Amino acid sequence: MAAIQENLDGANLFILHTLRQRALGQSLPLYLVGGPVRDAILGAQVKDLDFVLHGDAVVLARSLSEEMAWGLVVHPRFGTATLTFQDTAIDIVTARRETYQTPGALPQVTPGSIADDLSRRDFSINALALPLFDSNPRVLDQHHGLQDLEDGQVRVLHPASFTDDPTRILRAIRYEQRLGFRLQAQTEDLFRSALDNRAFDAVSGDRIRHELDKILQEVSPAPVLQRASELGVFQSIHPAWSKRLDFSQVGPLLEKAFPADDPLRPLAYLAALAFPLPPDSAAQVLRRLNLPGRHAAVFRDAQTLRERGPALSLPSLSKSQLFQQLEGLHETALKAVAAISPDPLIAQRLTEYLQELRFVRPALGGQAVVAMGVPPGPTVGHLIKKLRNARLDCKVQSEEEERQIVRRVLANRGGG
Ligand code: CTP
Repeated sequence: MAAIQENLDGANLFILHTLRQRALGQSLPLYLVGGPVRDAILGAQVKDLDFVLHGDAVVLARSLSEEMAWGLVVHPRFGTATLTFQDTAIDIVTARRETYQTPGALPQVTPGSIADDLSRRDFSINALALPLFDSNPRVLDQHHGLQDLEDGQVRVLHPASFTDDPTRILRAIRYEQRLGFRLQAQTEDLFRSALDNRAFDAVSGDRIRHELDKILQEVSPAPVLQRASELGVFQSIHPAWSKRLDFSQVGPLLEKAFPADDPLRPLAYLAALAFPLPPDSAAQVLRRLNLPGRHAAVFRDAQTLRERGPALSLPSLSKSQLFQQLEGLHETALKAVAAISPDPLIAQRLTEYLQELRFVRPALGGQAVVAMGVPPGPTVGHLIKKLRNARLDCKVQSEEEERQIVRRVLANRGGG
């Protein structure tokens, strides 16, 4: 208990204290479960608190919400509730049993005991619970997770775990790399055989993306991605993902370009995942993962940049041609590829575009050229582009030189 309290911030600590008092006072079969118990034992910062009640979690959450004026969202169908105090949210769920009818599909859920609830979980190190109603609580550890924490291993609870829920393939290596653990030997065999049997084929893109996202949000995604790459995880998600980047090299480059507090860092890693894809396959992979708008744009554009590599490395490429190649591509894709491109000329050109060229504008705007006699319509846009290209290629330096171009165009039109 003390280990958890030491590793909690203010709002979480207050919530835990409140729930503990409630459990003690009313002998409520309420448990703190999973990640927070694991992290407290490891002496790591505890982030999200998860509670399990052997009983109706929604009823408990409603009464806490009324009494404490905490925010409340309930999902009565699942027997779960989320309470919010200040900016902190915690989940309380009804202890449940899960049964998988078909591999990869979502499980059928029925109320159960705390033992059932721990047995449905992914790994022994997450199947830990602290009984809050106990005045001197000891960790409930029916799957020997404490020993695995000590031995530094990630172990599934039963042989069907990865086939029941293939997203655990991604979770296993996320925990392994985050905690500096290893997959336990038999777990690794099960992991590999789930990949060999194309376990991901039975899972929706949304669920895969959700776990992939969690990897990208890690403090250090690179070791997880490297391990995933080595084990053939990406190829198993989609066959086009067979060529791989060496994330032990790419990771530090991305982390230099996108510091830890940069919210775009996960997207930059996504760009790096798209970069090695063969032509035309980015669209297939992003459809498979059902990537949402901005993610899809970064993914597609990173692969487009790879495809445009030969054009981007032409020695004779002018600044306006470079602009044309890069205009409209997502900034994060450009910045990520600039960081990881193996070709220094391309990296330098992308950086020049990002830092200077994309801001270049002619002195004359639309109104000014119309005032000079250019008829409103598409010609204005073409002309502005021509002026910008002339700027980019240093063919004009002043407004007067731009006006000369406009006059020349008008004269030619008049003549033609
Ligand atoms: N879980 C599971 N199988 C999954 C997802 C989750 O068994 N596919 C269980 C795990 O026991 C986990 C708990 O549900 O401890 C909570 O999952 P989640 O909130 O998704 O944990 P994360 O935030 O992913 O991981 P952590 O907080 O441990 O970093």
